[in-house]
Amino acid sequence: MRVHVADHPLITHKLTVLRDETTSSPVFRALTEELVTLLAYEATRNVRVDTVTVRTPVAEAKGLAISKPRPLVVPILRAGLGMLEGMVKLVPTAEVGFLGMVRNEETLQPTTYAERLPEDLSDRQCFVLDPMLATGGSLLAAINYLFGRGAVDVTAICLLGAPEGLAAIEKATEGRDVTIVLGALDEKLNEVGYIVPGLGDAGDRLYGTVG
Ligand code: PRP
Ligand code: URA
Repeated sequence: MRVHVADHPLITHKLTVLRDETTSSPVFRALTEELVTLLAYEATRNVRVDTVTVRTPVAEAKGLAISKPRPLVVPILRAGLGMLEGMVKLVPTAEVGFLGMVRNEETLQPTTYAERLPEDLSDRQCFVLDPMLATGGSLLAAINYLFGRGAVDVTAICLLGAPEGLAAIEKATEGRDVTIVLGALDEKLNEVGYIVPGLGDAGDRLYGTVG
């Protein structure tokens, strides 16, 4: 498993405002979108491309075009939805599939309540979006889903991660092509499975509490 933790003052600045409990939902949503675009730049470093030639007004120029099949972007609902616009702005030709997952706040086990993905993901590069990698249960379930359908490699973009969750995913995906791109690697999980210092409940901060 490859792990990339962003190291850029602009990303840390935006994350600091995101963490602040006084930041409103509209600002939180705008910053999430901006952060994803910055992280997606790194996450797509190994996107598959073909060499192409175009004609400029002056001469022929060799360049690159994203290969087919097109990359699949998979936001994990609900909070991952807040990251989708930022990602498709950077990769507008990507296709989008959806996974709805919710973590039981007592057992910390995820349940999948919605799935809208292509049946066959053979040869697909997949990009999973979820702001929080806490115990890693939700992300691991998503990764297993995608490999189970034939995906060749999975890159996850998360705003914040906990060391416990990263270790769990590394252990469970040994031998698979998995990359995790994080805005920051935080200190730990607390006794109720929240990232410390974290930013609280990402879904609630994006969209308000559903109870
Ligand atoms: C949050 C978050 C991740 C998950 C992380 O979602 O967006 O999906 O928890 O926790 P884990 O690493 O321990 O699995 P939540 O279940 O709160 O659902 P929501 O997006 O609808 O708020
Ligand atoms: N889910 C969140 O939204 N925040 C956390 O800190 C952990 C899980």
